[in-house]
Amino acid sequence: MERRDFIRLTGIGSVAVFITPSFFISGCRKENMMDMAGSIKIMEGDFSAPLAIPQTVLANGSPVLNAQITRASIIKGKTTKVFGYHPSILGTTLKINNGETTNIFFSNSLAEETNIHWHGLLVPANMDGHPENIVQAGSSFNYNFNINQRAGTYWYHPHPHGKTAHQVFMGLAGFFIVNDAEETALNLPSGNYELSLAIQDKRIYSDYSLNYSPTSGEVMTGYLGQYVCVNGIYSPYHNVATRWYRVRVLNGSTARAYNLALSNNANFYVIGSDAGLIASSQSVNNLLLAPGERADLLIDFSTYSVGTEMFLQSNSFNGGVAQGSDSFKIMKFIIDRQETDTFTLPSSLSVITPIPATSSSFNRNFEIGAMEGPHSGMNMSGGMHKINGKSYDMNRIDASVNAGATEIWTFDNSRGDEIHPMHIHGVHFQVLDRIGGRGALIATETGWKDTVLCMPNEKVRVIMTFPQHKGKFVLHCHNLEHEDDGMMLNYEIV
Ligand code: C2O
Ligand code: CU
Ligand code: CU
Repeated sequence: MERRDFIRLTGIGSVAVFITPSFFISGCRKENMMDMAGSIKIMEGDFSAPLAIPQTVLANGSPVLNAQITRASIIKGKTTKVFGYHPSILGTTLKINNGETTNIFFSNSLAEETNIHWHGLLVPANMDGHPENIVQAGSSFNYNFNINQRAGTYWYHPHPHGKTAHQVFMGLAGFFIVNDAEETALNLPSGNYELSLAIQDKRIYSDYSLNYSPTSGEVMTGYLGQYVCVNGIYSPYHNVATRWYRVRVLNGSTARAYNLALSNNANFYVIGSDAGLIASSQSVNNLLLAPGERADLLIDFSTYSVGTEMFLQSNSFNGGVAQGSDSFKIMKFIIDRQETDTFTLPSSLSVITPIPATSSSFNRNFEIGAMEGPHSGMNMSGGMHKINGKSYDMNRIDASVNAGATEIWTFDNSRGDEIHPMHIHGVHFQVLDRIGGRGALIATETGWKDTVLCMPNEKVRVIMTFPQHKGKFVLHCHNLEHEDDGMMLNYEIV
């Protein structure tokens, strides 16, 4: 593809697109990739739109989700065609206690197939939203399962192979929060003092319509948007009291990672990760969160005076060829009222018993950094992103594991130049170590997880014991462009 065609194809009207010339020369070492996407310049707004808080629905009844084409106001004063599970973008926050059962009536009012995957929930294979369990346009399905796992910030989104990124981008995603007795006993900030924030970047045309049309170069880099949204609102603010807040953050973007920080560089506290509480809180002033990952945070606003404004922002980071070089604000907190708060940070949160590496009965290696293998053009069955040289095939089982067995899986990105957040369905894992690259674990990686970020040059080892739910699950890169391009495998619990 000629470079001028690439510029034409990105076609986002008056919105600024900056293409770094050196990127074309040095950024891509793959063949046939003359149209690498360059970088999309983030557009910061004026943070004058109130944050939207999705409605919370108890999931132990019979909640209803209906995937549909609808409209929402992402940019203040404008409405945009989106997808939602209700007549608005995103879905309700489903909440449940460990041990309870849910029976979700899901209908598909889209004009295309979809389904729902319960990201981080340990559910039977036929309830997990495997790409072969599709709900056709005009059909419905009952997702029925029992919750038997730790409290944590889980989420749901579509999983039809080749269409996941588009459907998530258009607005299909929601929180699924599990509570349990251990967590309740900590008396963490709740009610108005507990926020769930889904951060997603959107590519938006100058007529305010959503635009999901990645070029092949953007399948490589991920489809980055210029408009960073929280809970479907671009450039929002939220009023807070002089209190501690519990802030659950989901990176629901298709490809963009964020290095979360507060604009005054204040420390905040990591208390949990993908699958619940870590052992004890860890004070940080920045935290990387890749697509699919969640962080459970405490922010202490109690020491600020009324009228103070501060931002949740993303600091720059070393993110491979495609992202991380810019820093930008995500949302604004306005301390607007004085309240007294007696909350004190618990000295310990939970007990995380490490799975000893010696208990692994099998070690598997997943090569995620190599681009070799036959490919000629963009419409071949095998995409550009592979795992162990293989592109996703719905009918091929790539790994068989025994229920109850412990294994170590290594995600090897040591030859790669892109970031790959690797996600495994049907199980929670612990991160053993990271060799190369950052060379160490971060705060969220000290607990239970289902998605782990593998930066270029990194080899990340995870350890897990497979549950008794037998059947076919997937593992994949949670850069959704990579996933749809084929960076996914089936594994089976037998
Ligand atoms: Cu959230 Cu298979 O993914
Ligand atoms: Cu998942
Ligand atoms: Cu990837």
